[in-house]
Amino acid sequence: MNPLSTLEPASAGHSDEYARAAGGLQPEFRTRKLIPNFYAHAAVGFAASLLLTSALPLCAAETVGLETLDLAKMRQGWGQPQINRSMRERPLAIAGQAFAHGVGTHAHSTLWVELAGGTERFQAAVGLDDAAEGPGSVEFLVYADGRKCWESGVMKPGDKAKAVDLDLRGVKTLLLRVADGGDGISYDHANWAAAQFVVSGVRPVTLDVPREEAVILTPKPGPAPRINGPVVYGCRPGNPFLYRIPTTGDRPMQFSVDRLPAGLQVDAATGIVTGTAPARGEYAVTLRATNKLGSDERPLRIVSGDRLALTPPMGWNHWYTHYDRITDQLMREAADAMVRSGMADVGYQYVSIDDCWMNAPKSSDPMRVGPLRDADGNILPNRHFPDLRAMTDYIHAYGLKAGIYTSPGPFTCAGYAGAYQHEEQDAQQFAAWGFDLLKYDWCSYGEIARGDSSLAALQKPYRLMGDLLCRQPRDILLNLCQYGMGDVWKWGAEVGGHSWRTAGDLGFELDRVFEVALKNAEHREWSRPGEWNDPDYIQIGYIGNARGMGEPRPCPLTPTEQYAFMSLWSLMASPLFFSGDMNRLDDFTLNVLCNPEVIEVNQDPLGQCGRVVMLSEETFLMIKELADGSKAVGLGNRGEFETEITARWADLEVKGPQVVRDLWRQRDLAVRSGSFSSLVPRHGVVLVRLRAAGSPAQPMGASGAY
Ligand code: GLA
Repeated sequence: MNPLSTLEPASAGHSDEYARAAGGLQPEFRTRKLIPNFYAHAAVGFAASLLLTSALPLCAAETVGLETLDLAKMRQGWGQPQINRSMRERPLAIAGQAFAHGVGTHAHSTLWVELAGGTERFQAAVGLDDAAEGPGSVEFLVYADGRKCWESGVMKPGDKAKAVDLDLRGVKTLLLRVADGGDGISYDHANWAAAQFVVSGVRPVTLDVPREEAVILTPKPGPAPRINGPVVYGCRPGNPFLYRIPTTGDRPMQFSVDRLPAGLQVDAATGIVTGTAPARGEYAVTLRATNKLGSDERPLRIVSGDRLALTPPMGWNHWYTHYDRITDQLMREAADAMVRSGMADVGYQYVSIDDCWMNAPKSSDPMRVGPLRDADGNILPNRHFPDLRAMTDYIHAYGLKAGIYTSPGPFTCAGYAGAYQHEEQDAQQFAAWGFDLLKYDWCSYGEIARGDSSLAALQKPYRLMGDLLCRQPRDILLNLCQYGMGDVWKWGAEVGGHSWRTAGDLGFELDRVFEVALKNAEHREWSRPGEWNDPDYIQIGYIGNARGMGEPRPCPLTPTEQYAFMSLWSLMASPLFFSGDMNRLDDFTLNVLCNPEVIEVNQDPLGQCGRVVMLSEETFLMIKELADGSKAVGLGNRGEFETEITARWADLEVKGPQVVRDLWRQRDLAVRSGSFSSLVPRHGVVLVRLRAAGSPAQPMGASGAY
């Protein structure tokens, strides 16, 4: 239930409460904190501040409690803002001091307030709530018209409340922010207690987070052929082979492949390579595409052996759009859209079904209720999936691949039939149905493991499924989805995985995409061809809110955040699975998903995950070494305001003059020596590629560098 709708607005008399709160603070502290330190004449001391205060027409002013504003616009890292109570839904209390009014929030938290010059002061007592029951740490920050005007410093549980009292005359926009104190956001139950505006003009109104215009940065692909996609591709000898040459440009187009090994053939009209994977070995082929406007060629190294997914898998997964509404029809439409939209032309390949294709003991949809298995123990799809083999045939006919999902426990996370005690049968069935990828969850397996959290117990179901999949006469990728337990990145490959989720469901944490990415990048040492850290799907365009498994709506991320998402996933060599609505792909979403130069960073054959070489409270630099010797660099700004970031050659370990290429705009910006600086917008990543001046401009693709 939304606490905002259940609680009454605060009563009057806030000024008194604020005075009591401030009065209860230690004197020297009060003196220091009452200085409104953002004034242009910031050097004024407490005495001057008092003079200013007494000069205000206070009797004409009214106080407006923070909790009376529309807090639905507050963004926070966990839970919902609480009116006059803490995140634990108890009375607000900081170090034993109780407060009758205020707002309980959780780091990271932001609230933008339009003051429009009508507010004289903002006053509050801030600190961690006593009921948090854990070792949180936070920092409260206030910004007036884009400038930081107050900060609490790091506060820990038991720290006495700190008073804020700021002169805001003339200020148009205020930002109230709670940052993490440096140890992650667990237990960061933060109180803006006794928080109020002293208002003499228009009343303060909360604002949506600033949302810039959705500008399409990337030029549309030209009409002449451009072959995209990886330069290396793994397969297992003797298994069915399927590869659609990802190529932008006008159709009709003619495709051919030089030195294609025996057993493989290319369809000249579609560019789909099929057949039987060749004998163990490496085959250097050249892909060619021609239309009436020109031609392109690109090398591809086919590596037939034990390893698959030599570059991060790319595709679409239904979860964050259709949840338990997925049907055969929607899956086919997704495949249609992957081709029609051009996604397949830049390398998206897997069309993956997630949970809810099986039967469940109970579901609000009677079509999904039925026997879980037949008399022989074979898993039964629900009635929304009349023929899974026909569905994968449909997907394969496009040259695309099909993914499926289950859980090692008796039930999946959504309560549908899992694989427990039928693992071999299910692996065979998935292969017979023609699936090319299995996402293997953990849900309900905990009951089987019975609290045994040893490494062997954590690995057991994956080791079993990894072996089973290897024995099928198909190449089937294994994506472990156990949220990072037991440092899965250290052993995911050993048990047969090709990728492993490094954290929980990102759909619950879209406010924390930067933090999740930076955490994921800490596991960079375990990222390499065939072995990928998976921070979850790309959630841009139309997605359904993960909490209510809602119908797809425009995603909450700003356009800049959406670019940042894709930039970070590319720098980190993360599997690139879009999970938005394939039937509502607008030009902006496609431009974020489909920039071949950005994807080339993701698909780089070295398989490196970007390295964070500078990390400050608000900014960071992430660098990724690429196979041709060039480097991709992300200049990231987690802060709330545009800021200039400098990438120094010394930090990036590059020397000499470098051509700096803006990958989103596909434009060389400049030749720089020593460093490169750029303004980076709020929650943005500027993504550039540096190559030594004088080296070829198109390192991959046509130049045949591989
Ligand atoms: C878990 C996974 C999600 C999704 C759901 C399906 O939460 O982490 O990615 O597969 O299960 O129920």
